[in-house]
Amino acid sequence: MRRRRFLQYSTAAIAAPALVGRAQAQPMAGGTLPIPPLMDVGGGAGNLLEAITGRHRFAESFEAKTLGWSQDYLGPTLRMRRSRTARLTARNSLDSPITAHWHGLHVPGRQDGGPQSLIAPGQELEQNLDIDQPVGTFWYHSHPHGRTGDQVYRGLAGMLLIEDEAPASDNLPMEYGVDDLPLIIQDKSFSRSGALQYDDDGMAAMRGFRGDRIAVNGALAPKARVPQGVVRFRLLNASNSRVYALRFNNNRSFHQIGSDAGLLPAPVERRKLQLAPAERAEILIDFSDGAGARMVSEDVPVEMMGGGMMGGMMGGNSGPATRDGAFRVLDIEVDRSQTGAIKALPVKLPGAHLPAFGEPVRRRRFELNMMMGMGMMRGMFGGRPKLGINGKTYDMDRIDQQVRLGETEVWEITADMMSHPFHIHGTSFQVLSQNGQPVEFGKVGMKDVVWVENSAEILVRFDKPATKDTPFMYHCHILEHEDSGMMGQFTVG
Ligand code: C2O
Ligand code: CU
Ligand code: CU
Repeated sequence: MRRRRFLQYSTAAIAAPALVGRAQAQPMAGGTLPIPPLMDVGGGAGNLLEAITGRHRFAESFEAKTLGWSQDYLGPTLRMRRSRTARLTARNSLDSPITAHWHGLHVPGRQDGGPQSLIAPGQELEQNLDIDQPVGTFWYHSHPHGRTGDQVYRGLAGMLLIEDEAPASDNLPMEYGVDDLPLIIQDKSFSRSGALQYDDDGMAAMRGFRGDRIAVNGALAPKARVPQGVVRFRLLNASNSRVYALRFNNNRSFHQIGSDAGLLPAPVERRKLQLAPAERAEILIDFSDGAGARMVSEDVPVEMMGGGMMGGMMGGNSGPATRDGAFRVLDIEVDRSQTGAIKALPVKLPGAHLPAFGEPVRRRRFELNMMMGMGMMRGMFGGRPKLGINGKTYDMDRIDQQVRLGETEVWEITADMMSHPFHIHGTSFQVLSQNGQPVEFGKVGMKDVVWVENSAEILVRFDKPATKDTPFMYHCHILEHEDSGMMGQFTVG
């Protein structure tokens, strides 16, 4: 019903502005994969993340004005230790407000860096984060309401690792930048003069912004060199809205060992991996045979209409897809003069999560709405649409839910018309089902983003407090949807 009505609106209101699907040539093949510097963040003073403007070269003749954390584009990989305090200062040297949000960290609302915790231009904010959760791959990014999409797109994001005090070194590849590689995957769009292009108005905001070039760690179509052995990739989809279905050429298999919030109980063999915005995965690939590989992706449509009529109206298939539907993400070359430290896949993954929630005491429902009517009409006529959850667009002055500390709940999320990656601050959760199909914990692990096509159910518990001054957020992680109001906030106490 609703979908049909949406189509009618669309047909009526949309005449011209849709982009046309473009077949783009790939940029000149690869420079070396850049590796963000590693920054160990302990309890001492002096760990600074400074938001600055920069100029960054994405590839030959693709140099653009960007933002970064203490560097031209993106930021250092922060490494924090479990059960320790991580002390760091976020400084804003830009001329608009930012925040420093630690995506996936279990910290109280006042440390979470949500939209209330603005850092004004010229100001700084010191945080002492008590790291109290299992090891894993997380990230950080700016999160001011209405500007998150723009700031993350221009570069205010970085990777964040939680590691054990003394990780078992004989089990998993763990030499950062050598056999343990961060891969921050994003899509970008460049003007003729080489400037980064971003559009968060109108139909682009409704469908989610998508660029037509793929960058990994800020380089277009780069090449990684790896030792001859087992290699670990930490994948982060830091794109505003693009969903990837990653695989390797020759249908090569790999093993997933971690998801958003930490390690899986045991490696899971895969040939394809879907990553929605903000999702992470750790994978292992065995390069002992010395053969290189190419990582490619297929596009995953976010429209329920499968990219048909609605896809066309909402911006079509603009993107880097080539004729067989796949596009290049990364080339991997084995350096045979270097022997990897890890020769065989681990059987077990010590430090992995186990499902650990009690019986749920409550059920909450969240409907992610494209907001038929005025909100959507605004988008169709080129303005910023007003999207919402449970019929309400985000309001910084309204607390949408009050959650009790330590109580297990079931959250049921449904989507109308489009699929959405739903994210919750302050905790990690277990996915019980997607589209009514039960989800096996061992294959998915603990998450902080869940892909909602039609519906999803999760089991969630909050162990950190959040007051009304600095509440936690739940929102769609398509950043244009979030900025257009598909977000709510809640206290925990
Ligand atoms: Cu990546 Cu509200 O967060
Ligand atoms: Cu978050
Ligand atoms: Cu969304």
